[in-house]
Amino acid sequence: MRESFKQKDIEIICGDCIEILPSLANSNATLVIADPPYNVYDVSQFTHAVPFQRRNVEVDFDRHDVDFLAFSQQWISLLIPVLTANGSIFVFGGVNYKQGNDLIALLPLLREKLSFINLIVWHYPNGSDSRRFFANRYELIAWFARSRQYVFNLDDVRESYDDETLQIYLKDKRLNPETVKKGRNPTNVWHVTRIGGNAKERLGHPTQKPESLIERIIKAGTNPGDLVIDPFGGVGTTPAVCMRLGRRCITIERNPAYYQVAVNRLKNIFNSKETQKPGMN
Ligand SMILES: C[S@@+](CC[C@H](N)C(=O)[O-])C[C@H]1O[C@@H](n2cnc3c(N)ncnc32)[C@H](O)[C@@H]1O
Repeated sequence: MRESFKQKDIEIICGDCIEILPSLANSNATLVIADPPYNVYDVSQFTHAVPFQRRNVEVDFDRHDVDFLAFSQQWISLLIPVLTANGSIFVFGGVNYKQGNDLIALLPLLREKLSFINLIVWHYPNGSDSRRFFANRYELIAWFARSRQYVFNLDDVRESYDDETLQIYLKDKRLNPETVKKGRNPTNVWHVTRIGGNAKERLGHPTQKPESLIERIIKAGTNPGDLVIDPFGGVGTTPAVCMRLGRRCITIERNPAYYQVAVNRLKNIFNSKETQKPGMN
């Protein structure tokens, strides 16, 4: 029997998403957040996330042991039936210059079956240095929707103008003051610091995502009560944010150690009755 944890509307399943996703077809998810294995063998790219004393030992960096494209084709096909007609999928990735199998390779697979909406650049100020090329400071998030009637709550993720800009814009007769007061569209370039090795938020996963990043996606792409599915759950960032924001969530994670960290994270949030944390808005 597969192991799983359920607390209210949040479920975490320990297992392989390729085996579990068929049972979630027609579950009417409004949003899928897919942060798949990086397919990266070069551990040094993630040294910021690993305690110094562990840098020279072998760590599981989402290393992938099967054909990356065939695997990606499988999970993409399995995720489309879980979405509502107005549902979206956000896929994390980068450009992996060494192995080549990366988000760039996934884009045509996604585009074949879904409508392309945005390619978001997640810019972070922190990361490792390089002498051989410009040091990397971004990752990409591809947004695709099942139809053109996708959910997009722009007002819920607008950024406030600073006081000086606000006053100038409010005096500008060409601009609608009501829209100005709501704040600006955060654009498709998001500035969010990556979780540092010693950050309080870090739970031991090398590619754990900041809650504030996931929060923006969930607020923009769902309404309270909607279902979010995360097939590559890691240490449970998506279900943690869903719990705080009152969204339902089903998360799958293959690695029992990460699954257990995610379960403990959810239990802690539930026990502390945490409801709102400051996010990006
Ligand atoms: C990039 S990480 C996700 C990190 C996550 N977003 C977080 O913030 O913690 C990808 C995760 O997918 C898991 N994984 C890889 N293949 C999987 C599969 N077939 N089914 C379920 N999980 C898988 C890995 O163990 C890894 O934890």
